Amino acid sequence: MCGIIGYTGSLGASDIILDGLTRMEYRGYDSAGMAYTTPSGKIALRKTVGKVKDLRAICDDDESTCGIGHTRWATHGGVTNANAHPHKVGNVALIHNGIIENYHEIVKEYNLSSDLVSETDSEVVAALINKLYDGDPTKTIKKVLSIIQGSFALGILFGDRPGSIYCVRNVSPMLGTHCKDGSFIASDLTAFIQFTKRYFIIPEYTIVTVRKDGILMEDLDGNNVEPEYLEVNWDVSAAEKDGYDHFMLKEIHEQPQSIIRTITPRIKDGLPDFSDEGIDDDFFKNVSDITIIACGTAMHAGIIGRTLIQKYLKIPVTVTIASEFRYEQPILNENSLVITVSQSGETIDTLAALRLAKEYTNKTLSLVNVKGSSIARESNYVLYTHAGPEIAVASTKAYTVQASMFYLLTAKLGLVQNKMSVDDAKAFIKNLEAVPSMMENMLSLDTHIKELTKRMQQSNNAFFIGRGLDYSLSMEGALKLKEISYIHAEAYAAGELKHGTIALITEGIPVIAIASQQHVYSKVISNIREVKARGAYVILISKDENITDNSICDAHLRLPDVDDDFTMFESIVILQMIAYYTAVGKGFNPDQPRNLAKSVTVE
Ligand code: AGP
Repeated sequence: MCGIIGYTGSLGASDIILDGLTRMEYRGYDSAGMAYTTPSGKIALRKTVGKVKDLRAICDDDESTCGIGHTRWATHGGVTNANAHPHKVGNVALIHNGIIENYHEIVKEYNLSSDLVSETDSEVVAALINKLYDGDPTKTIKKVLSIIQGSFALGILFGDRPGSIYCVRNVSPMLGTHCKDGSFIASDLTAFIQFTKRYFIIPEYTIVTVRKDGILMEDLDGNNVEPEYLEVNWDVSAAEKDGYDHFMLKEIHEQPQSIIRTITPRIKDGLPDFSDEGIDDDFFKNVSDITIIACGTAMHAGIIGRTLIQKYLKIPVTVTIASEFRYEQPILNENSLVITVSQSGETIDTLAALRLAKEYTNKTLSLVNVKGSSIARESNYVLYTHAGPEIAVASTKAYTVQASMFYLLTAKLGLVQNKMSVDDAKAFIKNLEAVPSMMENMLSLDTHIKELTKRMQQSNNAFFIGRGLDYSLSMEGALKLKEISYIHAEAYAAGELKHGTIALITEGIPVIAIASQQHVYSKVISNIREVKARGAYVILISKDENITDNSICDAHLRLPDVDDDFTMFESIVILQMIAYYTAVGKGFNPDQPRNLAKSVTVE
């Protein structure tokens, strides 16, 4: 969602802030702004609806070395210049990510309405700080913290404190770092990765003073808090397009390497091993049932996990949408394993669901891509996926590394619970290790797939069908197509179609049929014939080398001859490329789909 950056140091702030905002464009936004302090004790403000390049066009006159910048994803109030951040009230400028729940009450109680020019909850906080400011920023922020409710990451400038940025957060993410060029705060690392790979997570309810020569933190009781620095193992090039037209295409191509990085350190003597993460076999021994909690694509990875674990473990596995789970009465006991899955590790619904789950069980495990993120820190155990930074809003490599982790977990649980022999587990893991090279082969189908999508681009609707693991996978295929090409797409269990949905199949409707599971192959082929007979344009994905009959399909994309449990990795590359080339063919930017944000930090 909103992107935040603050810089104070020896270099010009304007370019650093604008470059940082550009790197965070992937988070999704509709307006951008910047404020900086001048040595004379003034705050200059620039903001506009539109892109960071529009902001750059109006930022030509500052020599300041201290400022804050923001990209806004509208929640409270429309997309207008007034609603864009920073908000300046009196001699205070503020940027905010999150939602202030009690802003109406604050306006009334502190009589702030005449100070406000926007419709936002954020401006109310700027006005409140301005009203309560007594010359001591830290003391004032503490007072404000006792009043505001909700989630927030705030970056604040006080005109009479040139060169300093103040910040504080609750729930919403914010990182900090100090390096030879100065000090930074940001919503995510991509904003300042070109300066340093070291960063720390700003602890909640800690007041942070950011200065050129260092960062000071104190808790609400006035105690000093030391930053706990982490270091990432990727650099600025990982957050650039590297010659690809879009981040999404680059990330589709990065999948084989991402999977290798994720699984290889966790395979010892051909078997899964999580000892480096401090997770020993006892953790899995008494697991009676599993609940997987996540949102969107991460939830779809969980559905792959459910299909596998139930098949091999024969224990109940539930996959729950995080925003539903958190308002339900969970059916969990102390032997329930709760697995939260999240690329960003900051999705607020998943985080809240994890907090609720912890009231019932100590067996919480998260699969997270971003090191040190909130979900990772709050879980009892974490297994990091190593996809590297995922910049495109449409998740691709995060999905396949999450899925690969579920394969490792299936084998681990199977061994520990004596449901899988050592030989079977080794064979299973060997198949997993073969996945990256098989995926590489699929990437070469891109020209063929691009051609096929010309038909897809003409349709307003599409269906994805399959059975078993293919059905689990088709949900992700449909989501990818929807979110970037704006074609309405639905996934259906192939056998369910004739119970209603087949009524929607008319001449020319694209149906992407996945038929890679031998035990239900003939059934899926029958279902395909049913839609084909009603005029559907069928793209079939299967391992069958003998498909010549065009009464079955209009186009056939052939999968390599891998074990049925592992075809999802090859099939998903095809589905991702179908979505990508359809979107690009329709003239859309798949990296920044409308209305979407990369990391959803509001409820
Ligand atoms: C999918 O392409 C989306 N980006 C979205 O569904 C995403 O997977 C979801 O918002 C969850 O995000 P997370 O993995 O960061 O928690």
